[in-house]
Parts: sequence; structure tokens; C-alpha cells
Amino acid sequence: MRIDVVTIFPGMFREVLDFGIVRRAREARLVEVQVHDLRSWTTDRHRTTDDAPYGGGPGMVMKVEPLVSAVEAIAGMGEGAAPKLVLLSPRGTPLDQPKIQELSEEEHLVLVAGRYEGVDERFVELTGAEEISIGDYVLSGGEIPAMVVIDAVVRLLPGAISDPQSAEEDSFSRGVPWLASARCAAFRRPRRGSRVAGEPRSRRHPRSPSGAAAGAAVERYRVSTKSHQLEQPK
Ligand SMILES: C[S@@+](CC[C@H](N)C(=O)[O-])C[C@H]1O[C@@H](n2cnc3c(N)ncnc32)[C@H](O)[C@@H]1O
Repeated sequence: MRIDVVTIFPGMFREVLDFGIVRRAREARLVEVQVHDLRSWTTDRHRTTDDAPYGGGPGMVMKVEPLVSAVEAIAGMGEGAAPKLVLLSPRGTPLDQPKIQELSEEEHLVLVAGRYEGVDERFVELTGAEEISIGDYVLSGGEIPAMVVIDAVVRLLPGAISDPQSAEEDSFSRGVPWLASARCAAFRRPRRGSRVAGEPRSRRHPRSPSGAAAGAAVERYRVSTKSHQLEQPK
């Protein structure tokens, strides 16, 4: 898979791409991530990416011309079909695990991070970009939402996680009904001489059929305390 990001702050991505699963996936060539400075596609001496909104109003909007030039140039860099284009936007479709699954099946993803008061409306009209929101709140830029998409997508790529079962067992991986029963609570291995409250002595996985009682006990404990404290044996 190839992921391209268009931003005016490419430096924000350095650390995120260099740790954990995303780093390992890049090293294993499961994904190639390229972060582009939008200013490379500006044409004026000041490399301007924003402009006053047409008809007035507060703040500045991102100019459409450099954005369109950027995504057209990037489309030509990928191999095969046209890339899936996503504009991070608080007005977009709320991001959820099925959408992440869908994006992870794309060959080529282009993520556009807005700034200022947002992106000129014509960008979506001209390019057909899908607007995606990471939640009902407003951030100062689309870089963090783009990082969220990259992280969640990359961990679904085959081979990105050494034990594929852990992605299958993630919260939300089976859609909303799975949410109701929630993922089994995660506890670290108890210290010697301490145990997770309510846990039977069995160390079996809570969702293996024979470990169902252990799972129920852990869930009862989780609901009753809403915390994961360890209980010292009496
Ligand atoms: C300050 S915001 C623009 C807010 C805009 N005036 C509004 O109210 O919709 C600047 C950029 O941050 C990004 N952004 C902010 N909140 C976001 C969210 N919840 N999900 C995705 N992107 C977001 C978008 O790319 C947006 O263009």
C-alpha cells in the first residue's frame, strides 16, 4: 500500500512514522508513506497556501489551486488505479472501524490535511475527495486526523501485527454489536502474590469456551469498579 499526505506542516509526521507498528510496516515494505509539503505546489514568491474567503467572513481558507495540483501530481506517482482521496474535515463522515477496514483495502491513499478555516469548497467538487472526520470537535489542522487514519489503517495491513488474532479481537473489529459486549478487558499478568479481583485461579483466555467463567468474572469486576486495580489477596 502507498499513502501520501498533503500538508503545510510535513515535519509533524516524522516521529509518528518512526515508531511501533507503523515503523515496522514501513521497514517491511508493507506500506510506503510519503509526506508532501503543499507549498511545493504554490506558484507565487511567498508560497501562499491561504486566501481570504470569497464574500468575506472570518479567517482564511486554503487555496484550491495548489491542492488540486498536489493531488494530480501525486496521482501520477502511484502505480495502477487512481488513488482514494480523503480530505480530513470536521464536517466529514465520522471515522469508524469499518471505514478504516475499507481504507486499508485501497492500494493508494491520499490524505489531505486542512488548516486555517478549512479548505475551499471547490476542492471537493473538483476532485471528488471523501471528507472524513475523526470526531465531533474541531482541531486546528488535519495533520493529527491524518495520523489517526495512518495508524489505524496500517495495523490492519496483512503482516503488520505479528499475531493477526489481536487485530481480529480489537474493540469494534466486528462492528457495533461487538461493541455492546466490548473487547475482553486487558490486564497485565498479575504480580506474584496478587491477582485481578474476581478472577478465578485459571489463567485461560477469558473467551476460550472453557475460560468463559473467567471472562465473566473479569467483566463483572470491570463493570463494578470501572478500574483495573489489583486486589491484594486477603
Ligand atoms: C480549524 S479546522 C477548520 C474548522 C472549520 N472552520 C469548521 O468549523 O468546520 C482546520 C482543519 O483542521 C482539520 N480538522 C479539524 N477538526 C477535524 C476533525 N474533527 N476531523 C478531521 N479533520 C479535522 C480539517 O482538515 C480542517 O480543514
